[in-house]
Amino acid sequence: MPPYKYATLAVHAGQHPDPLTGAVNVPVYLSSTFELTGIGADRGWDYSRAGNPTRDRLETALTALEGGASGHAFASGMAAISALVAMLRAGDHVVCSRDVYAGTVRLFDRIVSGYGIEIEYVDTSNLACVEAAIKPNTKLVHIETPSNPLMVLTDIAGVARIAHARGVEVSVDNTFMSPVLQSPIELGADIVMHSTTKYLNGHSDGLGGALIGTTPEHKERFLLVQKAAGAVMSPFECFLVLRGIRTLPLRIQQHEENGRAVAHFLSTHPKVSKLAYPGLKTHPQYDLALCQQKGFGSMMSFELKSRDEAERFLKAIKIFLNAESLGGVESLASHSGTTTHGSVSEEVRRSMGINEGRIRLSVGIEDKDDLIADLDQALAAV
Ligand SMILES: Cc1ncc(COP(=O)(O)O)c(C=O)c1O
Repeated sequence: MPPYKYATLAVHAGQHPDPLTGAVNVPVYLSSTFELTGIGADRGWDYSRAGNPTRDRLETALTALEGGASGHAFASGMAAISALVAMLRAGDHVVCSRDVYAGTVRLFDRIVSGYGIEIEYVDTSNLACVEAAIKPNTKLVHIETPSNPLMVLTDIAGVARIAHARGVEVSVDNTFMSPVLQSPIELGADIVMHSTTKYLNGHSDGLGGALIGTTPEHKERFLLVQKAAGAVMSPFECFLVLRGIRTLPLRIQQHEENGRAVAHFLSTHPKVSKLAYPGLKTHPQYDLALCQQKGFGSMMSFELKSRDEAERFLKAIKIFLNAESLGGVESLASHSGTTTHGSVSEEVRRSMGINEGRIRLSVGIEDKDDLIADLDQALAAV
């Protein structure tokens, strides 16, 4: 495609009309297998685990949005992270942000480390820690920025500089920002990962994940993992994500506007403490957010005094829903200690700074005045 601007790419990359019928939407190819044209000859597809025309379209769109060389769609974000580490070998070492999504920690600690792969969690917001953690057998630095739920940023370009000098690749979980607000590949990352379940789909009606690579080796490796391990995204889910992508820039604009307004409201509320939102000038990494991100997004978290207060708040909200996940059109609130970080021990949670009263918000695209009024009445009930 020519170098179109972002909103045009979102509508058109991978989404040209169907050559057979002219349908302006990508058809959902619900076919597990494809007729061959001869022995070892096909029309581009032979079996849907290896490749499917609807999935191809989504993978083209994701590649364009992240500015990569190839995109690969998986059954969930976790399946994408599994694929990311599937080609590592016993004896390899991975440096990972300490503050990652707890599901990533569960996968690494309870499954991946059983294969003899060593995972080391470090504070990647401190580049000296990243530098010190890289060893001769380090193969990957995996970072999540901003982190969940404390919204701590990692300097992607800084990490890439350090890792590349030692011959190590960098992958970035870009789920919280979406490709609209952060371009890790432009900043030097080698691989971008998404839970498409979140902003890319945007409507909380499907699970999915993606990896976007930058080299022919990534393409070969991720195609092999798709075909060999098989946790691929279904054609229907691919369609849903393709449809979501068409409105992604518009949705993000509204998420962003609402996020800023809600954060501003919460920042002055007497019952709220330790509000974490990179768009506040009081955020310790506000300057990094300004230069690394194209906006501040709509994820934030804050503390109430206790678990009881958190419970009262979650019972009182009316528009915000008490639910895990993020990035959908509807606003969600969740108790971090028992949802995203429920699998982490209380001691570890406390050491991470996630206390019993910590609430995470995913601010949706409803009217911002209604959202603020909802939070106001719920905080009054605390
Ligand atoms: C930052 C991040 N990465 C990965 C995942 C996992 O994605 P999925 O739930 O699609 O498997 C999540 C899920 O919440 C997430 O928030």
